[in-house]
Amino acid sequence: MGTKWTAPAIASHKVRDGNQPLVMVTAYDTPTASMVTEAGVDIILVGDSLAMVVLGYEDTLQVTIDDMAHHTAAVARAEPDAFIVADLPWLSYHISTEETVKNAARLIRAGAQAVKLEGGYQRIAMIEAISKAEIPVMGHLGLTPQSVLALGGYKVQGRTTSTALTLSSEAKALAHAGCFAVVLECVPSLVGQLITESLNIPTIGIGAGPDCDGQVLVFHDLLGINQDLQPKFVRTYANLKQTTIDALGNYAKDVREGAFPNDEESYQLSDEEIETLGLYSKPDSLKDDPLGSW
Ligand code: KIV
Repeated sequence: MGTKWTAPAIASHKVRDGNQPLVMVTAYDTPTASMVTEAGVDIILVGDSLAMVVLGYEDTLQVTIDDMAHHTAAVARAEPDAFIVADLPWLSYHISTEETVKNAARLIRAGAQAVKLEGGYQRIAMIEAISKAEIPVMGHLGLTPQSVLALGGYKVQGRTTSTALTLSSEAKALAHAGCFAVVLECVPSLVGQLITESLNIPTIGIGAGPDCDGQVLVFHDLLGINQDLQPKFVRTYANLKQTTIDALGNYAKDVREGAFPNDEESYQLSDEEIETLGLYSKPDSLKDDPLGSW
């Protein structure tokens, strides 16, 4: 059992104070959450990337609060030491503060310890409302995938002085409104560094350079399960897609060739029952193991 993270502990976790960067990885189900926490990851994000990497949608606009609550509960059932943050999906925090707080509470009741939402100034009222309901909230700035239609695609953000300065002041506004951490996605390294230096809460980068207070990657990207065209910020630590295809291919071959299951993988009758039935004799390999082994 490792140390349990809390939102206040994360909020004061800055690398400039001599701390190691925070490690965040997405997970959407129980076995994945168990593996992620066993690997010593600090924060599990039940991300709305669920839409593409698990549910087969084109973008994150398709997932609902029901989908997010369902997968958050599955992650929580792993009882991970890692701190669980769940994404508020598109349109679950855009209509009214009342609906926003109710949706945030649904994710908390499903097992999350905090929620994350995307956007800058336009989200301040919602962040304040969620914080007033005592729910820790993480911000998300830069490339915000739920804005893909408005942004005209998945593009690096903050490339000009004026857009970088806007991002920086939005990050301060998010911190002031109550966010305990902020994800910075797809911004130049220097912009990631400047925002990180200007905030007292941690930044968690994804394509935001090495100077953030933490890093996050999508589970299926870092393990090479999702091999669709990847942005340059993804580092792949395994090729589980090929490993899985090879293993399944070996299983299919064994079944087709009659090599699976063998006697050890099958249940056997006792010699007595075989005699009563007057049928076949027991294979030699199982003579000392009357009931077959489990
Ligand atoms: O949904 C997600 O996986 C995310 C990360 C990419 C930060 O929001």
